[in-house]
Amino acid sequence: MWEKVWNHEKIAYGGDYNPEQWPEDTWEEDMRLLKLAHVDILTLNVFSWAALQPSEEEYRFEKLDKIMELARKHKMKVCLATSSAAHPAWMAKKYPEILRTDFTGMKLKFGARHNSCPNSLIYRKYSVRLAEKLAERYKDYDHLVAWHISNEYGGECYCENCEKAFRVWLKKRYKTLDELNRAWNTSFWGHTFYEWDEIVLPNQRSEHLGEDQTAAQTISIDYRRFNSDSIMDCFCLEYDAVKKYTPDIPVTTNLMGAYKALDYHKWGEKMDFISWDNYPSNEDSFSKTAMNHDLMRGVGKGKPFVLMEQTPSQQNWQPFNALKRPGVMRLWSYQAVAHGSDAVMFFQMKRSIGSCEKYHGAIISHAGHENTRVFREVQELGAELDKLGGEILGSTGTAQTALMFDWENWWAVEYSAGPSVSLKYHDEVLRYYTALHTQNIPVDIVGEDDDLSQYKLVIAPVLYMTRPGVDVRIREFVEGGGTFLTTFFSGYVDENDLVIIGGYPGKLRDILGIWVEETDALPDTKKNSFIYGGQNYSAQLLCDIMHLEGAEALAEYQEDFYAGTPVVTCNKFAKGNAYYVGTRSEQAFYEKLIKEICEKQQIKPAADAPSGVEAVERFRGKEHYLFLLNHSEENKQVSVPVAGTDLLTGNIYQNDECLTLTAKGVAVLKWTEE
Ligand code: GLA
Ligand code: ZN
Repeated sequence: MWEKVWNHEKIAYGGDYNPEQWPEDTWEEDMRLLKLAHVDILTLNVFSWAALQPSEEEYRFEKLDKIMELARKHKMKVCLATSSAAHPAWMAKKYPEILRTDFTGMKLKFGARHNSCPNSLIYRKYSVRLAEKLAERYKDYDHLVAWHISNEYGGECYCENCEKAFRVWLKKRYKTLDELNRAWNTSFWGHTFYEWDEIVLPNQRSEHLGEDQTAAQTISIDYRRFNSDSIMDCFCLEYDAVKKYTPDIPVTTNLMGAYKALDYHKWGEKMDFISWDNYPSNEDSFSKTAMNHDLMRGVGKGKPFVLMEQTPSQQNWQPFNALKRPGVMRLWSYQAVAHGSDAVMFFQMKRSIGSCEKYHGAIISHAGHENTRVFREVQELGAELDKLGGEILGSTGTAQTALMFDWENWWAVEYSAGPSVSLKYHDEVLRYYTALHTQNIPVDIVGEDDDLSQYKLVIAPVLYMTRPGVDVRIREFVEGGGTFLTTFFSGYVDENDLVIIGGYPGKLRDILGIWVEETDALPDTKKNSFIYGGQNYSAQLLCDIMHLEGAEALAEYQEDFYAGTPVVTCNKFAKGNAYYVGTRSEQAFYEKLIKEICEKQQIKPAADAPSGVEAVERFRGKEHYLFLLNHSEENKQVSVPVAGTDLLTGNIYQNDECLTLTAKGVAVLKWTEE
């Protein structure tokens, strides 16, 4: 369905445009400039609720009609937003219930955006009504190619409405208070509940000392599940509203990468295509950005995937809003495409003159003309994407390796009181991702509930919460010949954060062939060490002290009272292998271990590229597209692994021939299977 309506002649190019913030007589000049930049899609109407609905019963669409006509006249496709990410001031005044209450318990007033209580019936009623009116009005505009519901959903609300809704959500999950008391382990600290309305939301006024410090982990995890579901319900209600009138137009909302508050694996199921906003700082590693792309593509499980926003140059909300250096915008755009995106889109088309985003990068600067560095770079990339045409679109990745990243697990790990405040889930997963990525091993990112059968290698760092079924899938995967790797702090608890007794790592114990008796937490300044493959590596953060129960020790601690006990192990289990890394080490160790595992399992990199060069492949049928992305500051030579044509230059390369990438340069090598 998506293929039919999305612009499938070429990679879509454009983004957020807010002409309603400008006098109408400036619009034609904007169009001239955007056309000159090869823009072909506009995201419209993102923050227009107050303009569209000036009062309870009054709607005004005249201006939006004109904007839609403007887009049509200039043959721009439209990704139409529903405007529900910022409610009108009159609504907040008349119905204070739509305002959020924050983590400290403070009731908020009107202001900013992304500020509506997701459980307010008034918010839901009016946001859905607006979405429906928009769909009814614009259903026949043939240039409407996608719906963009709200904008960057997120945050939390702790109001009384949410508290009531939480109890309803809990009744659905647990059915009885007895079951809830069991799941929440309420016999601890005298928490037994006898009536549903004794239950309150976990925040700073109840269970929490700080955001991550809670006295009752299960209540806090359930709140996160509930909050993510509540906000997702708002998305689904608007989704249904627009589908009534435009069943064939695909619907998305712009996600935010590794954003903790929303369980995007669940959200991905509800969206027609996945879109996300990529705002790395210049200091972020290119592996971190790549992981975000793979994570976002992964939540769609094969659904189309697009880069909805990036800045053409600088941001405005970082402490230091560095410019994107020449060539970097192009490089990062191709990085998104390499990881699966079928669009390159920006926030924003034109800088506003007032409020907090007036210094945020845009295609049209405050100078108002095309003679700027940023404009020229955008224009050049636009021309290049025009030339690429329909190549690449709809092609998919080639991963034989899956990396597990799971939101509920994330929440559970970071709510845990002990063993270490320095344990951050995303950081630990990123270490493994980076080890794979710097060797150009293609990766899919999956959740705990996903099928693993198509992979050769599955890596699940810090798999602390093992929800029902995940151990079964891992067991089947390894029994069938797969290679599994997990780490310290895995297999401890069930879906209710209740410890699986009988010894760590719980249900993974026999698969891994070890028993972890104790775990030492090292302060950030302290290290242990081990020797692996003749090299000395550090052991940091957590050190598991374990017994072998069938596994072989690949390395042992060198210091402290547990010197000589195993730290890295491998267990042969049925036809497969299960590795366990009982500590955090350094990047060089992860790279070495993963290289060895991949070589053994014949998992090949997309290309053998020098450091600083990212190689990623997409394919469709027999056609392959190998992206070579030089993130470094120097020219790099890559030996081409297969004969093909660089689609960006037209140069033809023979097998093993040397391709030179300039600093920040890109090549897209197309080759066809015999
Ligand atoms: C987000 C929002 C946009 C804009 C940009 C600025 O991605 O969706 O509306 O605020 O940030 O970076
Ligand atoms: Zn609320």
